[in-house]
Amino acid sequence: MAESPADAGVAATPPMGWNSWNHFAERVTDADVRAAADALVSSGMRDAGYVYVNIDDTWEGQRDAQGVIHTNSKFPDMKALADYVHSKGLKLGIYSSPGPKTCAGYEGSYGHEAQDAKSYAEWGIDYLKYDKCSFGDVIRKEAGNDHAKAFAMEKAAYKKMHDALAATGRPILFSLCQYGDNDVWEWGAEVGGNAWRTTGDINDSYTRMAEIGFSQLVMARYAGPGHWNDPDMLEIGNGGMTEEEYRQHMTLWVMLAAPLLAGNDLSKMSKETLALLTNKEVIAVDQDKAGIQGTRAWAEGSLEVWRKPLSGGAIAVALFNRSAKPQSITLDLKTAFLGEDAKLRNLWTGENVVVAGDKYVTTIPGHGAVLLKGTPAKLPVADCSGGVWNEHLGFPCRNSMSPRGQ
Ligand code: GLA
Repeated sequence: MAESPADAGVAATPPMGWNSWNHFAERVTDADVRAAADALVSSGMRDAGYVYVNIDDTWEGQRDAQGVIHTNSKFPDMKALADYVHSKGLKLGIYSSPGPKTCAGYEGSYGHEAQDAKSYAEWGIDYLKYDKCSFGDVIRKEAGNDHAKAFAMEKAAYKKMHDALAATGRPILFSLCQYGDNDVWEWGAEVGGNAWRTTGDINDSYTRMAEIGFSQLVMARYAGPGHWNDPDMLEIGNGGMTEEEYRQHMTLWVMLAAPLLAGNDLSKMSKETLALLTNKEVIAVDQDKAGIQGTRAWAEGSLEVWRKPLSGGAIAVALFNRSAKPQSITLDLKTAFLGEDAKLRNLWTGENVVVAGDKYVTTIPGHGAVLLKGTPAKLPVADCSGGVWNEHLGFPCRNSMSPRGQ
């Protein structure tokens, strides 16, 4: 059996980088990708962990007589582009579909999987987003109403490309994009996925961002080192949300251990956008090596408390306000598995928080979030003895976590 890309060490923590789609969509060119690579370096984003530079749909040209895929005129030389990106200490990602056509109607990999994987490896590609698109039509045509057959076809198509990538010998992160169909989180890792989209597309609006971000509970248990739930790319800095809404977006994504793929024009970024994207302590919550996806611990009205156990006996605690008006919230430290001796730090402000007794009271801006890190977390040991996922806690018990803060 072909080795899984996950075994090659890609995606030990959620992938971080930039993707062209949310800002450039079909207009993206070689020059835009080079400018994004330059900006990742000059802004400090690369050093904060954003290393993948991912070209989304519309780079594809025609196939030649031998079936080899070529780029279109917007991307004159993919190998040269990869060399440029690599020379900056970054990695290059690309996009295709298991169907004959991509979502934007360009050439997909259907029937050319091994050839395409070989081209990607020769160019020096490090990441593939594989987007279902017209493969849905192939399935409908061949399987009709036979759901079992349709499901088997879908899994086989993703496995086929995974195996083709693995056969090249180049570690290429494999990112499934089929919008969460057939509960992909249950089988994405089995077909070699390092990440899988859990939903349809995000857009740059608070409503859509929140709809996605707050609905990622059912699949939480399937995330872990090498294979992540992907609630779609970031919209931070694209202009459709307020700074506090973008803070909520980033806070949700790090609590979800989600891939962090910036989707804005990096060459024209405000300092507020850069600060939201590059807060090191916030990013560390996403990148924590235990790889546990956070879940909701408490909700009342439009207020929510989420928790994400971290390695080394700490816990991240996010406080969310889903209403448009500022609201006061009282965090009962017990909800976060923290005792009265706990140290609490506000990761967005970088300030240590003073707690009186076992409650922490603060005000959250409208559509905003507060992100805290508490130590030591006193995870109930008895509840952790039962296995990999604990229904009561809402997160898994792993050896890498130290119960009772030890
Ligand atoms: C789909 C995907 C998007 C993007 C476009 C490109 O809609 O979900 O993320 O890749 O296709 O055509």
